[in-house]
Amino acid sequence: IIFNNGKYKSLLAAESNELAQIKSIVDSDQDFRPVYHLAPPTGLLNDPNGLIFDGEKYHIFYQWFPFDAIHGMKHWKHYITEDFIHYQSAETLIPTELFESHGCYSGGALPIDEQHFAVFYTGNTRRSSDNQRIPFQNLAIFNKKGELQHKRPLIEQAPEGYTEHVRDPKPFYTPDGKIRFVCGAQRQDLTGTVLLFEMDNLEAKPRLLGEIALPQFDNSHVFMWECPDLFKLGDKDVFIWSPQGKPRESLQFQNNYHATYAIGKLEGLIFKAEYIAELDQGFDFYAPQTFAGLSNKEETIMYGWVGLPDLDYPTDEYKWHSMLTLPRQIRLKNGKLSQHPAKNIYENLTALQRINIENQVEIANLDQAYLKFNADNRPFKLELFHNEAGQKLGLSYDGKVFSIDRSHTKQTERMSQFGCQRFCEIGHLQDVEIFLDRSIMEIFLNHGEKALTSRFFIPNRKNTLYTDRSLQLEVAY
Ligand code: FRU
Repeated sequence: IIFNNGKYKSLLAAESNELAQIKSIVDSDQDFRPVYHLAPPTGLLNDPNGLIFDGEKYHIFYQWFPFDAIHGMKHWKHYITEDFIHYQSAETLIPTELFESHGCYSGGALPIDEQHFAVFYTGNTRRSSDNQRIPFQNLAIFNKKGELQHKRPLIEQAPEGYTEHVRDPKPFYTPDGKIRFVCGAQRQDLTGTVLLFEMDNLEAKPRLLGEIALPQFDNSHVFMWECPDLFKLGDKDVFIWSPQGKPRESLQFQNNYHATYAIGKLEGLIFKAEYIAELDQGFDFYAPQTFAGLSNKEETIMYGWVGLPDLDYPTDEYKWHSMLTLPRQIRLKNGKLSQHPAKNIYENLTALQRINIENQVEIANLDQAYLKFNADNRPFKLELFHNEAGQKLGLSYDGKVFSIDRSHTKQTERMSQFGCQRFCEIGHLQDVEIFLDRSIMEIFLNHGEKALTSRFFIPNRKNTLYTDRSLQLEVAY
């Protein structure tokens, strides 16, 4: 079926030249398009989906609405890479069936045999009589070349006791070869939770095992859990999810919604958490997912969406919205998750130089650079990218708290609604790493103990960097 109903329009309904015209608007953005982050060719990107290593290559999908910077009909845009540097485009998952009539929503992948992998995803559908949403959970099979072989529905409605908000299946195998998947859900009393389903094999019908309880998490005010991900790291279980409604705090959980993680042990249906924290404390980070199919049991790779639901950005007028983070290697360190870009990203850095800076310097292509310095656990203030309009980006450390200040940058009203600064408590700040890419920065503190991912918008910026104390800076590209 070629769906074409307002914003619920599939790629198959594109008029000739329509995407090329949108692309020319995207290309007219001279200021903000990233150079080395995955951004949508046109339209809106959100959650990373279906991440899987197929034994030779990595498959990466993301939620994509091709026609505008709005949440319309969601497709799964698809790339294949061997090295996280060169990406080849592969077959997009396009809504064509009634069981996905209003979008192929988020989900995860599962290895199945030498030549194929499965993706589990939510088919968003709406009844024509009253527009009521009915969430299907679907299965699609791809071959390693990235071609879609087949798709079918697995579950055709929300289970009893839950609202229409049941979505984002993330599958995995049990030690005895059964398939399980977690789904984000909203209970009938409008609180958020996660459901666990089981299938004996890919042909079998899924059965609901129940909710996974997370008693150590304060779920008050939380109305929905999105994008759950459950996996093992070493001898621990890790649960990552995106709760909605958690009250904002002054030094963490500062955005409208949050991505969080718990480390502990899953015993039956109870996750006994030893540690729970926000995954990233920047302005724009949500709905992360880790790869299936990796063999190293001590670490994994994760992508996140550099954006948030319900936010708009200055690039919307250029008809593109958001990007993915760099691939991040995730490990356990002192009972917490440590995260920094994958090895290939570091190996691909070139033109390393060391510069001693005293106050103001101009660094060529600063807006596409990797910066690193040792803060020596002493306060500092940095300002980057001054322009003639007096705009600039601020980064600082006062000995206890690292902050990002975006108050002197271009913002939409909704961006500034949640404040123009972000904070991150961190003692003994030594290692500071910053990956800049024109309108995004990913900051990693103390070798990945903390991460802060943010978008920022400074048109006509100069590549200037100001510091209030001398620093030995490493710069690379
Ligand atoms: C999270 C989310 C998911 C949903 C998808 C739709 O950002 O809302 O819960 O499946 O986006 O695009």
